[in-house]
Amino acid sequence: MKYRHSFHAGNFADVHKHVTLLALLRAMQRKDKGFLYLDTHAGAGRYDLSAPETHRGAEARHGITALTGSSSVADCAEINDYLAAVAALRGEIGDAHLYPGSPWLAAHMLRPQDRGICWEILPAECRALERALGGFRRMRVECADGTDQLRAVLPSRERRCLLLIDPPYENPAAELDLATQTILTSLQRLANCVVMLWYPIKDERTLAPWLARVERAFSAPTLSLELWIYPRDSRVGLNGSGLLLVNPPHQFEQRAALWQQELHALLDKVPHGGSTAQWLVRDADVDHASA
Ligand SMILES: C[S@@+](CC[C@H](N)C(=O)[O-])C[C@H]1O[C@@H](n2cnc3c(N)ncnc32)[C@H](O)[C@@H]1O
Repeated sequence: MKYRHSFHAGNFADVHKHVTLLALLRAMQRKDKGFLYLDTHAGAGRYDLSAPETHRGAEARHGITALTGSSSVADCAEINDYLAAVAALRGEIGDAHLYPGSPWLAAHMLRPQDRGICWEILPAECRALERALGGFRRMRVECADGTDQLRAVLPSRERRCLLLIDPPYENPAAELDLATQTILTSLQRLANCVVMLWYPIKDERTLAPWLARVERAFSAPTLSLELWIYPRDSRVGLNGSGLLLVNPPHQFEQRAALWQQELHALLDKVPHGGSTAQWLVRDADVDHASA
């Protein structure tokens, strides 16, 4: 496997994914009852945007660095919450170049009644992850295949779960299908599990048929959130960031539409792109209410 997340740390897709992840964690915490956070593709947990392995934060310049450098204050509470979390990591370590990965962001949020498990398959990344999460007792790090290990932890004793699936997509078609299967299996084990899958917007010939298959295969409420800052089918590189949310919190799509529009305005200066928050599968109640 050649993929290293450090090259992409803090880019516009990370911003989109991490703003949404924190909003989901906040929504889970509206209830006192604890939940289990699961991160199947965890990465290194923390990245140094001044280091050669991140290309000195080249991609982050169109992501977190553009946001922190913006003269305007964000309107959406969810974006400010995310910026506060990034500032917390930087303040804690005393290094303004650091960027948090998904396991650090989640670990930072977990309450005494919550717990988390994150998996990373590459030994060097996993060791870095263990160092990054050293101070967090409620988040367990395992150096293993996250997709395989899910079976061992679901259903969880908490009966509430937030599952993040964030594959590297070196082989997009196969990884999208594996993710679909992983979500279906997880929901068989815990039907109310909230799932967030990140997917790349790069090639509509792969994406459109996969989204159509998701619509047919899923029965749980499923939302797609998309933010793109380059023409969607440009062959240049990553054009946009997609998030598939299964069992999202009540009215999540309405808030997501707002923070996506704001992120789009802040990150796409040309502009080439856009954003959408669309139901792929609505539950019967939602259909009934909107009929
Ligand atoms: C996109 S990165 C994760 C980024 C991270 N979720 C974040 O938002 O900060 C994908 C990571 O998954 C790891 N990986 C790939 N296949 C895996 C598997 N089967 N199980 C666990 N980790 C895997 C890769 O080594 C890489 O570090």
